[in-house]
Amino acid sequence: MYLGIKGLIVTKAKVLITGGAGFIGSHVNKLLTQKGYKTVVFDNLSTGHRGFVKWGEFFKGDLGKKSDISRCLSKYNVKAVMHFAAFTSVAESVSEPAKYYANNVVNTLNLLEALKNFGVKNFIFSSSAAVYGIPQKTPIPEGHVLCPINPYGETKKMVETFLPDYEAAYGMKYASFRYFNAAGADPDCELGQWYDSFSHLIPLVLDAAVGRKRAVQVFGTDYDTPDGTCVRDYVHVADLAGAHVLALESLLAGGGSAAFNLGNGRGYSVLEVIRMVEEITGRKIKVVKAGRRNGDAPVSVASSRKAEKILKWKRKYFRLEDIIGTAWNWHKKIAK
Ligand code: WQD
Repeated sequence: MYLGIKGLIVTKAKVLITGGAGFIGSHVNKLLTQKGYKTVVFDNLSTGHRGFVKWGEFFKGDLGKKSDISRCLSKYNVKAVMHFAAFTSVAESVSEPAKYYANNVVNTLNLLEALKNFGVKNFIFSSSAAVYGIPQKTPIPEGHVLCPINPYGETKKMVETFLPDYEAAYGMKYASFRYFNAAGADPDCELGQWYDSFSHLIPLVLDAAVGRKRAVQVFGTDYDTPDGTCVRDYVHVADLAGAHVLALESLLAGGGSAAFNLGNGRGYSVLEVIRMVEEITGRKIKVVKAGRRNGDAPVSVASSRKAEKILKWKRKYFRLEDIIGTAWNWHKKIAK
């Protein structure tokens, strides 16, 4: 609630954040609150961390239960939804596809059904660079063919496919964000990646730096890349949060629906990341060379020009040093 022009009391929209107890969702919740939005976090805490729900209302519920979603939407009159709730491990999706299709696709359909019934018309979706599979060109533009090479990417592509039909039939507008490699931590060190999400490279290397892990495995050293290891586009979670607020404001102001890449447009190899961690932490990291990991693409780097142009997205933390530096501050804090 704030005084708008002509002294009118203007109440900013209420936003439902599914998966708001998770890594990206909690950072978006913080920024939405700072911008004056009211928020409701809907989370089953299966992988999220209750301590990350520091702002807005909390509704403990499961997207696998339609009654939970209806109860939440009946209780809170939301104007928009940001849908983060999903499983996000490429490797796990290869070994447990059923779990990924059930949670990332079926449960999203449950959510979309409820939103349609309650007339919620603004949907911001956490998609992924994994929808592209092995890129035919780099940096990858949004018009690149969607050809996932793992079930995780397939689940994200499926949901993206639903959205234009929901817009055409039910007037539900959307923004799909194809995150590249989300990393880093809240610059105020209030939020970061929690232990159970440590399947990703940077937190695992930082775990080795604090001594919680003996070594880091490098999955594949024979890729067709400069040093033989996979190249990824690491993007700061605080910058991802900024893009979500821009998309919300665009949709609420009548902007059109679209899919956007969110990355830095600069790729770093696994070994480059490890070396950067050594430089920033001053710790030596023991590396163990391992075989390739199923589902991995050799290179994945974004073109984010569309988000920069249409949403006026500007990154604050685009240097790998900033990304790893904030993650290291957080890692030291939780390792105490
Ligand atoms: C990065 C690279 C591994 C761990 C992630 C998310 C996915 C999506 C895209 C948002 C790979 C290598 C890793 C280790 C290693 N993000 N690696 N040793 O798989 O690129 O995908 O970003 O939607 O949700 O999973 O990220 O951090 O798991 O792996 O060598 O101990 O590091 O093989 O090449 P990935 P990651």
